[in-house]
Amino acid sequence: MSPRQDIDVRPLRDDGIPEWIRALNTGFLRPPSVSEAEIADRSTYLVPERTLGAFDGERCVGTFRSFGQEITAVGGAAVRADAITNVTVTSTHRRRGILTRMMARELTAAEERGDVVATLIAAEYPIYGRYGFGAATTAAEWTIDVPRSGLDPRRAAPDDGGRIDLVDGDDVRKTGPELYERFRRAQPGATDRSERWWRIATGALVLDRVPWTEPFHAVYRGARGEVEGLLSYTVDDRWGDAKQPLQTAKVTDLIAVTPAAERALWRYVCSIDWVTRVRTGWRAPDDLLPHLLPDPRAAAITSQADWLWLRILDVVAALEARTYGAAGALVLEVTDGQGQGSAGGRYRLDASPEGGSCVRTTEAAELTLGVGELSELWLGGESAVRLVALGRVREERAGAALVADALLRTSRRPWCPDIF
Ligand SMILES: CC(C)(COP(=O)(O)OP(=O)(O)OC[C@H]1O[C@@H](n2cnc3c(N)ncnc32)[C@H](O)[C@@H]1OP(=O)(O)O)[C@@H](O)C(=O)NCCC(=O)NCCS
Repeated sequence: MSPRQDIDVRPLRDDGIPEWIRALNTGFLRPPSVSEAEIADRSTYLVPERTLGAFDGERCVGTFRSFGQEITAVGGAAVRADAITNVTVTSTHRRRGILTRMMARELTAAEERGDVVATLIAAEYPIYGRYGFGAATTAAEWTIDVPRSGLDPRRAAPDDGGRIDLVDGDDVRKTGPELYERFRRAQPGATDRSERWWRIATGALVLDRVPWTEPFHAVYRGARGEVEGLLSYTVDDRWGDAKQPLQTAKVTDLIAVTPAAERALWRYVCSIDWVTRVRTGWRAPDDLLPHLLPDPRAAAITSQADWLWLRILDVVAALEARTYGAAGALVLEVTDGQGQGSAGGRYRLDASPEGGSCVRTTEAAELTLGVGELSELWLGGESAVRLVALGRVREERAGAALVADALLRTSRRPWCPDIF
């Protein structure tokens, strides 16, 4: 069906917030009525110029919002991202091109702002590829069968001079942000966390629309007393027959800046009396976890999926922001839509472990790929050889995909621990 031009796509006005929230809740299949508390809360952070509504007369039938974000590139640079969220089109108005109009408007604005990439977490896989996004990170969730893990609770405490302490939400808001900053600067694919994120995670801000259970928080301090890791988890209250404890601990956050902290915190949560199962929450696909247990098979992947979707807006800036696995050069023919997208063109990348330089060129291309595929490769988590096999990248020179992998791939997978 052709786009309906009678639908007005425009930035939010201050007096439009309740109607916009009603449309957002409707689109996400949440009770549509809007509480005063929700209006007050959302008014604290909604930026009208970056909040789009699609209006059929006075009625809001589409929502779309963006905010400024930093994402860590390979090598540790913080790159300016346009983070997209709150995307909905009401079910009566779907598949008429309303999302396409809102996205086009947003990507143009992001380019004008000088954002290097756009990011989002996709509700469903098929939505965003058409706009040049690629699935740049994946995530996995493990369920640990604690009795099977072989961990001896008498030996689960740190044996490296470090220690674990339980702390409360106030402590987490003091130590967590600094720890997370250290973590994310070393983790390609990680995005920054706002003060609001920490307030919600610790119960300082409880939203009436999100069920809240106060978590336990544990910090790991290394031998010198410095905080190196933070774990947050909740535990249910399940008992079997004959008073058998069957509790499940659900990890809501585990951030570590050293392998020692990672090891200590996983072993801690797997050695709490009564807890027979641990659900890890969404982790990096190559998380150390299974191999921190005497029997790694006790940790089974129960869910695995694409996570952060990314779209490169400025190819030169994106490729110059990262470091590479080796020294080498590659000429890329990047397609962006039917030729209209501004990321399209031919680029020569001169890469090295210290960084890269990228210029537009007329040299013969070695690889032809869409901007979505380049976006998927940018954080190092996907393989060009694999995308060639899938028919999504074309080699113009035999062996060019192997060169691309040697330059672009990383030894650890990129990971974005957060949802936004
Ligand atoms: C996803 C959503 C925003 C799409 O809005 P929309 O206005 O219907 O999208 P458009 O009409 O602009 O769609 C453009 C194209 O994407 C396709 N598309 C859109 N959503 C899709 C989906 N969920 N699955 C598969 N294809 C989809 C359309 O079929 C259309 O393809 P075409 O050009 O070949 O006809 C809307 O369906 C929605 O609100 N879904 C529920 C909430 C949600 O999932 N939001 C996304 C949160 S990340």
